[in-house]
Amino acid sequence: MALPNALISGGSSGIGLALAQSLAAQGWNLSILARDPARLAAARAAIQSARRETAQQVKTFSADVTDAGAAADAVHAAMAEFGPPRLLVTSAGIVIPGLFETLPASAFERTMAVNYFGTLNVVRAALPRMQAVRGGRIVLISSGAGLVGLYGYTAYAPSKFAVRGFAESLRAELKPDGIAVSVVYPPDTDTPQLQEEQALRPPALAALASGSRVLSADEVARAILKGVGRGKFIIAPGRDMKALAMLHSLIAPLLNRVWADRVVARLHRRPPPPRA
Ligand SMILES: NC(=O)c1ccc[n+]([C@@H]2O[C@H](COP(=O)([O-])OP(=O)(O)OC[C@H]3O[C@@H](n4cnc5c(N)ncnc54)[C@H](OP(=O)(O)O)[C@@H]3O)[C@@H](O)[C@H]2O)c1
Repeated sequence: MALPNALISGGSSGIGLALAQSLAAQGWNLSILARDPARLAAARAAIQSARRETAQQVKTFSADVTDAGAAADAVHAAMAEFGPPRLLVTSAGIVIPGLFETLPASAFERTMAVNYFGTLNVVRAALPRMQAVRGGRIVLISSGAGLVGLYGYTAYAPSKFAVRGFAESLRAELKPDGIAVSVVYPPDTDTPQLQEEQALRPPALAALASGSRVLSADEVARAILKGVGRGKFIIAPGRDMKALAMLHSLIAPLLNRVWADRVVARLHRRPPPPRA
């Protein structure tokens, strides 16, 4: 019998790589898609060493998800190897933190191109063959910043809100086709992306994030696979994200306008002007 197969964009690092390794340990064939061939090769070796059986295959495809043609070619090449994916995960993503007035327009365009349009490009390429077999699950990686916008995330949060809106609409559209959809809201997760981002965070964003626990990529991958196993639409790794995903329309205004505004005001407080 053919082994199950997963196709993971952004599978060469962080959450995508941890997921690929977990699936390899469970006996899956893997296709991973990202840009940098050297990182893909290193990831392939790491995934191969996590395999349960040597018959399992790991294929890599180098493409930029913002290039619709290149992303489609890579997805089609992966499906030529393994057939339509039982699990399609869109984890390729970037974050450019910074204040709205300091970020160039290109930061907003690039973030939306990778996180939102890159997600669409991968899903669009795989969908017809998934529909033909009436099966599989699409797992879209959003973020806690897709539930509540935070100071310093004017470029990132809208791209992750867009992924959430896409997931909600897509779930409804694909249900009659027998294809399931999940959306994932990871909290801060210890990956190369977070390490790079932390160096660039404005102080108020760093202060806001300082209270929440950082999960490991393995913890997030485990939560994703548990949610997938249970057929969940919303997958919120960790306690904070579970509460936020369940209650965000109630608590996001409080988080933003009470707690976050206070932290920001404290950091921006200026000494009173000297008395004349
Ligand atoms: N880490 C966190 O704290 C956190 C929290 C919430 C949500 N998330 C989301 O989780 C997802 C994974 O993040 P991560 O922390 O695991 O990041 P990561 O370690 O930086 O990995 C990102 C992956 O995406 C690939 N990628 C980036 N731009 C791409 C492009 N244009 N085309 C194709 N592949 C591209 C990267 O490979 P190449 O650079 O070689 O292309 C890499 O494989 C992202 O969507 C991120 O926004 C992360």
